[in-house]
Order: sequence, then C-alpha cells, then structure tokens
Amino acid sequence: MTRQLHLNLFINSRGHHEASWRHPKSSPLALTDVAYFQELARKAESGHFDSIFLADQLALPDDVTSAPRTWLEPITALGALAVSTSRIGLIATASTTYTEPFNLARQFASLDHISGGRVGWNIVTSWMAAAARNFGSTGQVAHADRYVRGEEFMEVVRALWDSWADDAVLDDRANGRYARADAIRPVNHHGAHYQVAGPLNVPRSPQGRPVLVQAGSSDTGRSFAARHAEAVFTAHMEKATAQAFYADLKARVVAAGRRADQALILPGLSPMIASTEAEAKRLECELNELSDPEVGRKRLSARFGGHDFSHLPLDKPLHPEDFPSPDAHEAARSRTEVIVGLVRREQPTLRQLLARLAGARGHFTYAGTPEQVAALMIDWFENGAADGFNLMPPLLPWMLDVFIAEVVPLLQKRGLFRTAYEGTTLRAHYGLDHPSGRPR
Ligand SMILES: Cc1cc2nc3c(=O)[nH]c(=O)nc-3n(C[C@H](O)[C@H](O)[C@H](O)COP(=O)(O)O)c2cc1C
Repeated sequence: MTRQLHLNLFINSRGHHEASWRHPKSSPLALTDVAYFQELARKAESGHFDSIFLADQLALPDDVTSAPRTWLEPITALGALAVSTSRIGLIATASTTYTEPFNLARQFASLDHISGGRVGWNIVTSWMAAAARNFGSTGQVAHADRYVRGEEFMEVVRALWDSWADDAVLDDRANGRYARADAIRPVNHHGAHYQVAGPLNVPRSPQGRPVLVQAGSSDTGRSFAARHAEAVFTAHMEKATAQAFYADLKARVVAAGRRADQALILPGLSPMIASTEAEAKRLECELNELSDPEVGRKRLSARFGGHDFSHLPLDKPLHPEDFPSPDAHEAARSRTEVIVGLVRREQPTLRQLLARLAGARGHFTYAGTPEQVAALMIDWFENGAADGFNLMPPLLPWMLDVFIAEVVPLLQKRGLFRTAYEGTTLRAHYGLDHPSGRPR
C-alpha cells in the first residue's frame, strides 16, 4: 500500500487566525460551549481525519480584554468528545512540569477506556512564565530543568501504565476472582522529583498507553521527542526548515533505537482556500485588517519570555539584533528561532511580521485554490518534510468545511488518504505499534 498521509485537526479559538473570532463567517457559538468542539470533531471524523487536538496553557494571558484567551480544560473536554464521536483520535495537552504523574496516568488511562482506545497526550513542559506563579513558584522553571523533570515524569507514567498486564482483569463472578494477583505490579519509583509506589488504580487501557505526542523543537526538545514521541507537532514558515527538522528528528529516533516510522512528523499548515488564488488572498487580507498590531506585540513579547518590544516602530524594517537570542530566555525556544529566522531572511517591518504571525503564530500559512493546497501538501509529504499535517484552519468551522469538501478528495484521488477508517484506535490510524504489555 502507498505510504499514507495523516491529518490532525488542531482546534483553536474560532480559527487559528488571530482575528478569526471577530469574523462574521466564524462560529456563532460561545468558546465555552462544548457543542462547538463536538461539531468540529464530528466534522473532522466525517472527513476521516486521524485525530483532533486541543492545546493548553496554565495561565490567563494578560491581553484577554482584546482577544479570547480562555478555553475548556482539554482533558475534561475530551471526555465529552469521546462520547460524541466514534472513530477519530482525540489528543489533549497536559504539562509534565505542573501535574503529578499518578493523576495524569489515570486520567489518560480513563479517557482511553472511555473512548475505546482513541486517546493521545501532547506532552508539554509549559513554556509560559506566568504558569509558574499559579503553581507555587515565583519564577519560570528553567528550560533545562523542565526537560529533566519531564524525563523522570515519563519514566513514572510509563511504569504506571505498564503496572497492569493486558489480561489482568478476570471479572470472574463464578469463582469470585476479579483480577490476577501476578498481573498487577507496584512501581516503587524513587527519583529526584517523584516518589510513586503504584500500581495504577485503573486497569490497562485499550491502547496500552495513550499515543504520545510532543512538540518541543529545541535541541533538548528534539532529543526528548526522539525517545518518547509517536507523533511530533512542529512549526515551520518554509519547506527547507521543515525538511531539515524531519531529517534530523528521524535520525534521532533511529539513534534512540526506534523505527523511523514510529514517530510521525506533522508540521502545522494553515490554508485559506477559495476557488481562485485572488479570492483566497482577499480573504486573508480581510482577516489581517481585523487584527490589532498591539495584541500581536504582546503575544510576541510572551513568546520571548516577556521581552519588551514596545519601543520598536511598526513601520521600520526589523533586524535579528532587535530580538533577544533564542538561547537567552527560558520560554519556547524553537518558535523564537523560527521568528528570528524569518526576520533574518526577509527583514519585514514589525507590522508585517505581526501580520505574518497573526495567521497562525509562526506555522506555515498559505492562500490558494484546493488544487494548490493539495499540491503543496503532496510536495511536503513526498519530499521529506512531513508524514502528514497538523491542520490549523484560519477560520472555524468554515475553512475546515472547505478543506474536507475540496482538498480531502484530491488527496484521496491520489491514493494518499483513507476513504474510510480501517482501525478503531488512534494507534491504528497512525500506523503505530501496540506497546507490549508488561511481561509477568
Ligand atoms: C503545534 C504545537 C502545539 C503546541 N501546543 C502547546 C500547548 O498546548 N501547550 C504548551 O505549553 N506548549 C505547546 N507547544 C509548545 C511546545 O510544547 C514547546 O514548549 C515549544 O515548542 C518550545 O519547546 P522547545 O523549547 O523545546 O522548543 C506547542 C507547539 C506546537 C508546535
């Protein structure tokens, strides 16, 4: 069978464009209305997407008065989506820095049971400085420390998910035996950050453990992904950097002793689609005109760990020296490299840079016809830049509807994308191995 392309729908606000929430064609539903998320997940399922994904941050951004910066807590929301869909995979973000492994392991094991094996966990270390202040710490936990703690966290959650063998539950009413004693083992983890006895108090779930997703792209983040991630989200503003990332990460996965096809690489893609390229570009301009550069300036500052950009004029060309070095702050390193890279290549004005970032926060944006979008996706897929895409429609649900109606059939016609679900689990959709149960 031809290698298959994978599609994840990244649900964010009323679309990924910064101004989507104000556009008359975006959803009229409240962003706290679960029906909005259910509708999007069902639509993605009707288009045979592999999965949907909910991001998360652990603090309220301070520009909430001028843009929607609130959302439903993703693990809770997935519970509702699990019962309103039947085949599509469901991925939620949770932090290794600000949660406890025991609780997190049981939440994801429970969701995997509830969804019949369709759950994935986007592992983040939480880059937002403000998050620390909500968890008893006055300052940002350093980048390196977050990953060290994350590594130990992974050791604990894996051990917890493996603390039950696949066949541990007997539920034998006749003989009064509920579970096999020799199939449930303690964890007895004693580490620098966690002391966890185990075993988990939820039996092993349909997928054994959730599909592990990760999105750190710094050197440390990539090494972490190479060891743990089964799908990797990544942001690129040009094909060349996506290809370099793809080659580097696959090599690291192999060096970590894993098969390259067991870690899918899914770059973000935010396409504005219309029947002519001119109309797609017009729609893009319409949205850009609705965005406020001062909101963008604040977001840029948060990306760079709170760096002050207030003195920069909006209409003078920028230079890399206008930005702190990506190594010099403790926030999201790889995304700041993407931004400084763009400034180095194109020297945009701040206004132009903010318009580019308003599209999808440093992911690849594109305005064109369905044929052009499909051609771009096939090019990246066939030329070492992607195993599929993290689709980030600029306007929801409108641009998702257009993508499903107009682009998906073109991918299917080329034999690159499914016309029906074959498996029932997210592991099956992604072509991932089932983790072997812990030997007894
Ligand atoms: C598509 C995508 C989604 C992400 N979602 C989240 C998220 O929900 N919460 C979060 O704290 N970080 C999120 N991140 C950020 C990454 O987890 C990571 O912190 C960031 O890329 C910086 O990591 P690095 O310092 O290793 O580059 C996301 C990144 C990407 C590319």
